[in-house]
Amino acid sequence: MSLHVIILAAGKGSRMKSDTPKVLHPVAGTPMLHRVMSTAKRLAPEQLHLVLGHGIEAIQDTLADQWSATNIVQQAEQLGTGHAVNIALDHLPNDGISLVLYGDVPLITVDTLEHCVAIADAGELGIVTANMSDPAQLGRILRNDTDAIEAIVEYKDATQQQRAIHEINSGILAAPTHLLRHWLSQVQPNNQQGEYYLTDVVALAVNDGVGVQGIVVDDENEVMGVNDRVQLSQVERILQRRQADELMRQGVTFADPDRVDIRGTLSCETDCFIDVNTVFIGDVRLASGVVIGPNVVIESSQLGAGVQVKANTVIEGAVIAEHCQLGPFARIRPGSNFAPSVKIGNFVETKKTTMGAGSKASHLAYLGDATIGCDVNVGAGSVTCNYDGVDKHQTVIGDGAFVGTNSTLVAPLNIGAESFVAAGSTVTTDVEEQSLAVGRGKQRNIAKWLSPLKRKQRTSPDR
Ligand code: UD1
Ligand code: CA
Repeated sequence: MSLHVIILAAGKGSRMKSDTPKVLHPVAGTPMLHRVMSTAKRLAPEQLHLVLGHGIEAIQDTLADQWSATNIVQQAEQLGTGHAVNIALDHLPNDGISLVLYGDVPLITVDTLEHCVAIADAGELGIVTANMSDPAQLGRILRNDTDAIEAIVEYKDATQQQRAIHEINSGILAAPTHLLRHWLSQVQPNNQQGEYYLTDVVALAVNDGVGVQGIVVDDENEVMGVNDRVQLSQVERILQRRQADELMRQGVTFADPDRVDIRGTLSCETDCFIDVNTVFIGDVRLASGVVIGPNVVIESSQLGAGVQVKANTVIEGAVIAEHCQLGPFARIRPGSNFAPSVKIGNFVETKKTTMGAGSKASHLAYLGDATIGCDVNVGAGSVTCNYDGVDKHQTVIGDGAFVGTNSTLVAPLNIGAESFVAAGSTVTTDVEEQSLAVGRGKQRNIAKWLSPLKRKQRTSPDR
């Protein structure tokens, strides 16, 4: 049966105290609304319908590309969850199923939603509930002596006795669309808050003799809503732990699964080791046996088998082949492309630079816009002068070349294979293969020379 998903996100979210609409605050690097939408999409619905009000423009701006088929329903005034769903229903065919989600409940799982949709598919009303240790001000589920659900009562309308109930309404529900439409047409705002309550459909279903099935989630965190930044941080930690647990099950070891942040997708082959305080951003892929040291940040990069990244290294937009060693304290910037067994040591920065197998820059260097062959040694303090203030220029270094310490390589420049640049050289013209380039002032020694201070000391009678 055709499934339509309605996601409610019109509310202001004033407790976030933010200029950014609540549902655009990221959880694990992705706006929470997009997380809910991605989860919904895995049910292969006919269409997603987003009910928006506050911050509608900012939210719409984030819905290009993969979300462009989303139907936006504007709710100018937030008259309640029942009203929000009702106006979305204007866009839905009668013969399908409607699933209602909240844009600020980002941890809901596909499994739970599939369960909920199956109930609606069988012609009944499915609602997702949870038993909470602290049910706070959430809506309470009322059950009769046979444990059947009879109604939902909002906290503000509840009696003391009803407030003592620990089973709460997550807000997520699914039903045949024609029934939902029928029930919502009867909902009135005659309650403490003067709102149209979506939750009133439960009692109306019971009244119509339609079965209401509660899906009680095992883990109350799954239906946790985000209303303020404290809850945002809780949801973040829960999701981070979920991701780390999943990777551990796939064969990754974490020094501490509570001290890693994955803001995107991290995929790992077996036997990777990830130390503490590591951050992964975007799409990061680690082949087998990769070892990541502490305080490392890796964004949108691919690391080959057995690569070792030592402490405090930052890698972005790089492709690193097997058995390279990077860091500690290295900065590998976008367009860095390393062949196997390249070694980059402390305080080395690379950008748009290719390095052939076995090449090394072990300490203190800048390599930008360079194509470096195999088995090249770049000495400490060497710099490619790639920028003349207007344009960027290329440096090409052939296989087996040796660039001595503190070389200044003024691009555009070709340094031939197996050539040798003497330490401290400023190289401005191309170097032929197997030649020595010496580009520095010649040393001269002046005999019997004294510093001005020493001269003064020797001539002054007081001292
Ligand atoms: C609602 C439920 C309550 C449940 C709780 C779970 C009702 C009447 N109550 O509470 O039983 O325990 O969610 O979080 O449904 N929204 C709109 N338009 C509106 C009103 C709300 O889009 O006119 C959206 C909000 O942006 C939010 C969601 O609906 O994403 C829930 O609204 P909120 O006000 O937080 O929930 P409550 O009504 O307090
Ligand atoms: Ca809420």
